Amino acid sequence: MAKQADKRVIVFDTTLRDGEQSPGASMNLTEKLEVARALELLGVDVIEAGFPITSQDDFEAVRAIAKEVKKPIVAGLARCVDKDIDRAAEAVADARRPRIHVFLATSRIHREHKLRKARSEILRLAVEGTERAKAAVGDLQFSPEDAARTEPDFLARVVEAVIDAGATTVNIPDTVGWATPDGFRRLIEHLFEHVPNIAKTVIAVHCHDDLGMAVANSLEAVRAGARQVECTINGLGERAGNAAMEEIVMALATRPDAYGGCWTNIRTDRLYPTSRLVSRVTGLAVARNKAVVGENAFAHESGIHADGVLKKRTTYEIMDPKAVGVAKSRLVLGKHSGRHQFRQRLKELGFRLSADEIDRLFFGSFKALADRKKEIFDEDIEALVESEVMTIPETWRLQGLQVATGTGGMPTATVELEETETGEAVRDAATGDGPVDAIFRAIERLTDVALKLSDYQIRSVTAGKEAQGEVRLEAQYGERTVSGRGVSTDVLEASARAFLNAINRAVSREGGAKAPTKRARRKRRT
Ligand code: KIV
Ligand code: ZN
Repeated sequence: MAKQADKRVIVFDTTLRDGEQSPGASMNLTEKLEVARALELLGVDVIEAGFPITSQDDFEAVRAIAKEVKKPIVAGLARCVDKDIDRAAEAVADARRPRIHVFLATSRIHREHKLRKARSEILRLAVEGTERAKAAVGDLQFSPEDAARTEPDFLARVVEAVIDAGATTVNIPDTVGWATPDGFRRLIEHLFEHVPNIAKTVIAVHCHDDLGMAVANSLEAVRAGARQVECTINGLGERAGNAAMEEIVMALATRPDAYGGCWTNIRTDRLYPTSRLVSRVTGLAVARNKAVVGENAFAHESGIHADGVLKKRTTYEIMDPKAVGVAKSRLVLGKHSGRHQFRQRLKELGFRLSADEIDRLFFGSFKALADRKKEIFDEDIEALVESEVMTIPETWRLQGLQVATGTGGMPTATVELEETETGEAVRDAATGDGPVDAIFRAIERLTDVALKLSDYQIRSVTAGKEAQGEVRLEAQYGERTVSGRGVSTDVLEASARAFLNAINRAVSREGGAKAPTKRARRKRRT
């Protein structure tokens, strides 16, 4: 669809002002500058850099950003109060494109309980504030705070008056997230119908997310003719936050049919990196399932979905991850994954396994691991392949392990092994200096192979509390050194597997399984 000039939507970012007002999101000057540079790269049209009257730090931040950024308009917020307006004007004075954003509440509840002023006074103050700011900076935005709860006819009178006083943008805020998409669209339509001079200004909207409708409300306003949206990265902002920029921008980019071909100048492939940056500097994590920029936004686990995506990405993805700056879709391996997805991941990891090997791995250890662990990472798969496929012959296989340990007690391990050649199972128990020692002794008794441990290392192969532990060890077997490796979510089990792996290595070079000891035979399970 060709881009029409009258369908261009101005993106006004208020991450550094409304976003920074969200509890826990405060940023220092260096961080604000870093975010401002990222916003410029992202292509936002207006950066609301702060509320200069509120503190010296806020004033300095707005001033520094005004000096730093070249392309976007830099706005400073002010109440309809002389000292606020003068301070905002001073803060943005060095900007190439300065703007003052003046606000005054217009709703009945704010007029009567917060401001204690009649409608006529509100009108007068709005006009006086606009005129004062306009005299300082030509680009002037006025916001009737709590507009969504203001009587529509009074709102129309205020909007008309501030346009006459010189407001180049009039912003209609849903300050408390009270609006619904249909109601908000009708409010904007009401203004277009009842404000005679409305064509002289840009109508903006600023929606809060208290009912989770900020983005939907903003988009409905765009359908009604609003041509500036105020938003924040990751939807930061007071209480439940503001409309999320990434969601508005991608809704317009993905569904031009639904929004009359409205478009923005945002470089969408910068959305994800900017989201990460804001999350890092504010310390506010982005929910995994957050639209557009969440970790899971382009991740698929279900076998059916992953299979569809592998065949044709658009079966289950309406946006190309690259379009928002995510390198590629992620096919997450977990208990819902299918064999096709598993085979694909093995291929990507460079493993060339036969169909039988893949099936054995998939239906065996992969499924068993997936039951224990929510997400299976590449390292997990590598560990599985290494320990199960590309391995030395298994003379003994671990069947069961039980360990009793605690402070002051005597660690005891009961181990059950299968002798793979005969399929017979043997079980024995041993005590040791610690649980690992007890396990090793029990395995030695069962296999009748004695190893002298020379090195034992344990590490986590993946992150998180369900991480797999990897044990690597080295031991002396007569003149030879043998190594062993074992992986499990249980580190004691990983130790047992590593020790048995070393024993299998030791006996395999001698030509195969050794006969079970007499003691082991006595304890054989039938
Ligand atoms: O939510 C609001 O009303 C505001 C105004 C200052 C625009 O943030
Ligand atoms: Zn707000």
